[in-house]
Amino acid sequence: MGRFDGRVAVITGAARGIGFGVAQRFAQEGASVAIVDLDEAAAAEAAAKLTLGEGAKAVGIGANVGSAADVDAAISRVVDELGGIHVLMNNAGITRDNLLFKMTEDDWDLVMNVHLKGAFLLSKAAQQHFVAQKYGKIVNVSSTSALGNRGQANYSAAKMGIQGFTRTLAIELGPYGVNVNAIAPGFIATEMTDATAARLGLDVEDFRKLSAEHNPVRRVGFPEDIASAAAFLASDEASYITGQTLYVDGGATLV
Ligand code: NAI
Repeated sequence: MGRFDGRVAVITGAARGIGFGVAQRFAQEGASVAIVDLDEAAAAEAAAKLTLGEGAKAVGIGANVGSAADVDAAISRVVDELGGIHVLMNNAGITRDNLLFKMTEDDWDLVMNVHLKGAFLLSKAAQQHFVAQKYGKIVNVSSTSALGNRGQANYSAAKMGIQGFTRTLAIELGPYGVNVNAIAPGFIATEMTDATAARLGLDVEDFRKLSAEHNPVRRVGFPEDIASAAAFLASDEASYITGQTLYVDGGATLV
């Protein structure tokens, strides 16, 4: 018996990184899983790698989370092909870092579009199913950068926006059996942080070591760390928890 037997989970940006780790965890715990990512071939390839429980299915769907048409088509496909939707994780994300005076309007718009508009469109498309069935779980992905991070005015604003969005959806959807929470990861070893290392001219391992030295548990995080938190928040064990942002950062924001 898995915690997600008979459930359908949709994870955006799950062709790799944190999203893929979360998809793997939901699959291992019995869910059918839809991996939504920009490139359908990459999404399908990731879906094919999941370890599925008996009777569970996985599908990879190509969609830009910032496009309403793509998102509506994706959610319709999930419901048609996997038989419903119970869990949504808004994980897709990008960075376009720069100091304010060098940040372009495109850098700003793109980051807002993927993180904030993407979470809005997916949540709106999913909630009609959640409300009708009086059951649903939304897990949004914020970041420790929400608290402020040099060179990330766009990303920080979007990630703090996610926290306000989470609290508001929790208020609106709670009466319909829908829990809405967020996870704010600290440094997680993925291609996103590897790209940051490259941008700073640092070796990936040195960058990870440097980050590990700056938190109390003295290690970087991995997608599995976020997957554990996501599985808990999306499970019925967390049904009295809503509107919260859980920092999963090795204590980095304490010091
Ligand atoms: P990643 O770059 O490894 O993966 C992001 C995925 O999102 C990629 O597969 C990409 O194709 C997809 N994606 C990007 N734009 C999209 C769009 N418009 N539509 C659909 N899919 C799209 O990044 P990572 O590290 O796995 O990050 C996942 C989430 O966690 C992001 O929201 C990120 O901001 C957040 N996060 C990551 C941290 C880290 O240290 N890696 C720390 C805090 C938050």
